[in-house]
Amino acid sequence: MSAAWLNEAGGLRYHFRGLRYAENLWAPFRFALAEWLYAWQPPEKKLVVVGASGGWCVQPFFFERFTDVLCLEPDPVAHFLFRRRLARAPLEARPRLRFESRDHLLADPTALVRLLDGEGDVAVLFMNILGQLRVLFGADAADDAKLARVREAVAEATRSRSWASFHDRVSGAMAPQIEQPARSAVRLTDAEIVRRFFPGVEPEAARADGSGELLDHLTGGFFPADRPHAYFSWELMPGVFHLIEATCGVRRASPAG
Ligand SMILES: C[S@@+](CC[C@H](N)C(=O)[O-])C[C@H]1O[C@@H](n2cnc3c(N)ncnc32)[C@H](O)[C@@H]1O
Repeated sequence: MSAAWLNEAGGLRYHFRGLRYAENLWAPFRFALAEWLYAWQPPEKKLVVVGASGGWCVQPFFFERFTDVLCLEPDPVAHFLFRRRLARAPLEARPRLRFESRDHLLADPTALVRLLDGEGDVAVLFMNILGQLRVLFGADAADDAKLARVREAVAEATRSRSWASFHDRVSGAMAPQIEQPARSAVRLTDAEIVRRFFPGVEPEAARADGSGELLDHLTGGFFPADRPHAYFSWELMPGVFHLIEATCGVRRASPAG
């Protein structure tokens, strides 16, 4: 894998895009996502963020509700930018920020479960990382063994704590026809995604190998499909669109320990 500040899922190129587009091209996505995230009300006061980058996509006020935020993020430039973004925001309360550069997701995903258990009563937010795994692993099918191991670990990690994720569902040069957030009582199938957001496109357009008009980011199976899901359009750069999928859950049982 390349150096953390050059990694394929983020790095300097991504930070330049964040600096350039966060306040304009990305604003409709960021505002709609902020509304969705606001509705997620975990009882936990501590949060672990996986794939924080510079926090470009999340409105800083989201973090006000937490006393402690631990960002799992290998890129040291991202640590600086995330901290600066929160420091500059006019927040009423500021969480204590910590950063962890060591990988807890790719080489041994069970490390994520151990880290969360060690943190105690924490919620976890997968912040636009799970749709990047196909890139990070070089996976081209949902049955990829490394993806399967992360799915197992995520299921374990989210069993007894509050969790949320927003992640790439499909991407391509076509703009989704969407009023965001577009809500669904369950996870939409690939055919439903195409029918609902890409009218006129053939139903099989979302493919993992990139041969279709839409690239499938292989994010099925990480979370229960029978939970409510929301969908957003993120124009990453002019003419490149990511349909973002989001879902969440709130801890039901009382925390262990
Ligand atoms: C698409 S970016 C996330 C976007 C970001 N959440 C935002 O608000 O702009 C994906 C991030 O995942 C990070 N990443 C890569 N490998 C990781 C790992 N093993 N654990 C946690 N984060 C990782 C990358 O460095 C990158 O910053």
